[in-house]
Amino acid sequence: LKVVLAYSGGLDTSIILKWLQTEYDAEVVTFTADLGQSEEVEPARRKAELLGVKPENIFIEDLREEFVRDFVFPMFRANTVYEGQYLLGTSIARPLIAKRQIEIAREVGADAVCHGATGKGNDQVRFELGYYALEPDIRVIAPWREWQFASREQLLDFAEQNQIPIAKDKRGDAPFSIDANLLHSSSEGKVLEDPSIKAPEYVHQRTVSPEDAPDVTTEISIDFERGDPVAINGRRLSPAELLTRLNELGRENGIGRLDLVENRFVGMKSRGVYETPGGTILLVAHRAIESITLDGGAMHLKDALMPRYASLIYNGFWYSPEREMLQALIDKSQEHVAGRVHMTLYKGNVTVVGRTSDHSLYDEDLVTFEEGSGSYDQRDAAGFIKLNALRLRIAAQRAKKLAQ
Ligand code: ARG
Ligand code: SIN
Repeated sequence: LKVVLAYSGGLDTSIILKWLQTEYDAEVVTFTADLGQSEEVEPARRKAELLGVKPENIFIEDLREEFVRDFVFPMFRANTVYEGQYLLGTSIARPLIAKRQIEIAREVGADAVCHGATGKGNDQVRFELGYYALEPDIRVIAPWREWQFASREQLLDFAEQNQIPIAKDKRGDAPFSIDANLLHSSSEGKVLEDPSIKAPEYVHQRTVSPEDAPDVTTEISIDFERGDPVAINGRRLSPAELLTRLNELGRENGIGRLDLVENRFVGMKSRGVYETPGGTILLVAHRAIESITLDGGAMHLKDALMPRYASLIYNGFWYSPEREMLQALIDKSQEHVAGRVHMTLYKGNVTVVGRTSDHSLYDEDLVTFEEGSGSYDQRDAAGFIKLNALRLRIAAQRAKKLAQ
């Protein structure tokens, strides 16, 4: 059996690697993606080698540009938030990992793919829906749903017996599940499991607390073309560079922290602490540029569809016909979403202070409280209101009659 494992190089996936070799006698191929988790990926090579993986079976790839360009930015064109708040930082990364895993499986002629998500969460669904959508007959191994380890302790004992190094803080109550990439970092479990208790400061990884942020505002501008950000303060940057820079600006100013209880696809509620500094700035900026460039009807339609689109991504249906249909609609809406947004960042807040665009629909002459030009006649509003009031008046007349 030849298996492509989504391998982070961390403890859990190292245990899985060993387990695949012992339990399945598998030839393991490791795939480690740099998605901007701000953690070196090269150490994963040495760890895989130490665990007996052949050099030609170790795949380490920098996917940051593809991640931001083909997954994060398309999602932000819809101003996507799940349950009103979550910017989907983990959800949007899974389809890309699944895609590369399947491609590698084809390349090396593997029979199966394997991931380290538990049987209780969303990630298993996202990985596996991705696998099946791209390779309908692929064999999937999900060790967390299969193995006999009954507790974290047993898992760590297995690691110890197999010379897998365990960081000091992994026994006891310190560890919680962390996932990170260029868009966000998330923490769940252990100290966070009681949703009534405030998350300790040390849980946060990529932002200073708003209290510790500078006492002066930071002014920035973001330029957009066809709905995607292309420059900060007039300087053009690649997608991954741009998000990296926004993350720095967000970090310093304490922007993008979220403590959320959300509904998992499998039916349970879970509490997570998220940090999405750059994404939080981007969401505000994108809405601001849409506010002057997007037609009102188009905006309201995409806003109405957004929760559906968010759920599709959250639930793992990136590679579904309905997600692609919605994407086509969203992308079409972005044709004229271009221009510059000026913002200030200050102690956790992102404030829009100005927006300009060559594609603007905003008409100062039309909206002015002063005397405007001829294209709008205030007298037209009387008939407009009268007809809109017609059914309200009819209902009110009936109510009056019945009350007699
Ligand atoms: N609850 C979030 C989501 O479902 C974050 C999941 C984090 N995943 C992880 N393996 N730590 O998208
Ligand atoms: C996991 O269960 O592996 C992480 C949390 C989730 O996928 O929702």
